[in-house]
Amino acid sequence: MTSPQAACLRAVLQLGYHLLDRGSSALVAVEQTIRVLERSGLFNAGKGAHLQLDGVRRMDASIMEGDSLRAGAVASIEGTVYPISVARCVMEETDHVLLVGPMATKFARYFKMERHGLRTPPRRLPYGTMLKQIRSARNQHGTVGAVALDRTGTVAAGASTGGIDLMLPGRVGDTPIIGCGVYADNEAGAVSMTGWGESIIRLAVAKEICDRLAQGTAPATAARVVLKRLVTRVQGAAGALVLGPNGRFAIEHVTPHMAAGWWDGRSEPTVRD
Ligand code: GLY
Repeated sequence: MTSPQAACLRAVLQLGYHLLDRGSSALVAVEQTIRVLERSGLFNAGKGAHLQLDGVRRMDASIMEGDSLRAGAVASIEGTVYPISVARCVMEETDHVLLVGPMATKFARYFKMERHGLRTPPRRLPYGTMLKQIRSARNQHGTVGAVALDRTGTVAAGASTGGIDLMLPGRVGDTPIIGCGVYADNEAGAVSMTGWGESIIRLAVAKEICDRLAQGTAPATAARVVLKRLVTRVQGAAGALVLGPNGRFAIEHVTPHMAAGWWDGRSEPTVRD
């Protein structure tokens, strides 16, 4: 893979590895790598987030760490470059897990999170027209995510997205819903999901994979079994980053493509599409 996306993935894999190598927490590595992906504009997250049918860019993100099981998330947030950092701020500055809509945006403003100046003309479609345009997103992807394990044995997972194409204003997918788009537990592992959010929500996929890891199932097997069930039960489509507490990991998908990679600090990062 030599696309701009692949080059960006290689750069963030190196960033994440070096952060962990210098003793940063898994939480910091996950946040910082996702920030680069959000800022790049190359993926459906942050600056590159898709527009909803009214022409507004509303974004979702979540982050979780596996020692204390703390988590933070935002849904339908607007005007910020780094939804993942707002999610972390929700986790660290409040007793809440999830903030939504204009109040999530207000929260980001209060904590002086970086704004983006992206302006798009509003689309004044009648609501009935929008309802006719929505469709499922089995073959779309572009949500960004990361999982990491640090020196203390703590795992973390995060994800950030602009949702899917052709979605109603206010539609929220799996990404900010803990247990669906992400989950992290030191006694099980860390999972970050991409894909068709409605199908991922129906099976609470991230928690389902983590539960299997906790029972001793290997990451690749746990991901394959749950993704197979996603297809057979709800005709879903998704990809999973799965990391066990022992460092074993898997990247599995039942979508046609999933750009992803890993690095163990030797040679070059591996990135595949
Ligand atoms: N997986 C991202 C979404 O469906 O919104």
